[in-house]
Amino acid sequence: MLKVRQVSKVYEGKISYRALSDIDLTVEDNEFVGIMGPSGSGKTTLLNMIATIDEPTTGEILINGKDPHRLKKEKLAQFRRRELGFVFQDFNLLHTLTVEENMVLPLTLDGKKVSEMKKKAKGIAEKLGITDIMDKRTYEISGGQAQRAAVARAMIHTPKLLLADEPTGNLDSKSSKDVMEMLESINEKEKTTMLLVTHDPQAASYCNRVVFIRDGKFYSEIHRGNNRQAFFQKIIDTLSLMGGDSNDFSSVRV
Ligand SMILES: Nc1ncnc2c1ncn2[C@@H]1O[C@H](COP(=O)(O)OP(=O)(O)OP(=O)(O)O)[C@@H](O)[C@H]1O
Ligand SMILES: [Mg+2]
Repeated sequence: MLKVRQVSKVYEGKISYRALSDIDLTVEDNEFVGIMGPSGSGKTTLLNMIATIDEPTTGEILINGKDPHRLKKEKLAQFRRRELGFVFQDFNLLHTLTVEENMVLPLTLDGKKVSEMKKKAKGIAEKLGITDIMDKRTYEISGGQAQRAAVARAMIHTPKLLLADEPTGNLDSKSSKDVMEMLESINEKEKTTMLLVTHDPQAASYCNRVVFIRDGKFYSEIHRGNNRQAFFQKIIDTLSLMGGDSNDFSSVRV
């Protein structure tokens, strides 16, 4: 599904900064992979390059065997819209619109008929259990509901790869659990491959595998197996071994 090969990123500026060095990462179809590491370790940088929002300085990123960074602008926009789904920490919903309108927004860009869009939104809302908030505006719903709406929107094109950067970063533990359960069910039922950047060991424990990066370099990786509680403990142990800023631990929710 995804191959990251020897990817490095240097941000050029007055002083250039090497944010990632020689990262290799292979993600299989239907895998649910977490990326963790201290603040500033390069997690968002890596995700943004996979999302084709940013370009690697060296190395190669292949999604289903293709390098999207080689596509022309218009083809790239189409690729991004159809093959990838994004979820961010701050939901990125438009406040004057309802949940349903937010969900169909990506489809309007494809010039789909309104009736067709509504039907699709309804189907996804039912699957994901958010039918009751479809007509609400985003300021009328909770953070957890807003994030589930954002996930629903990301699923509107049935992307093969869903990329989430700290999707539970602004949520309390109950809402966080709701969002993670939703992602887990999408991963299992829709077979969507997922990449989740998170500081939260509880959220990461929903993944099949967690990759740790530190100072822009691969640090280690651990696999879940069938015991989520034990995996959670391993994640916490790895984080404390790895060190990093103490801020990271303020967000630990047990
Ligand atoms: N556009 C940019 N220009 C210059 N440096 C940048 C840019 N974006 C990020 N960096 C630097 O690259 C490093 C990695 O940043 P990145 O955002 O990937 O970290 P992160 O692991 O996502 O951190 P956090 O957990 O705080 O979100 C940081 O030192 C950051 O200051
Ligand atoms: Mg980040």
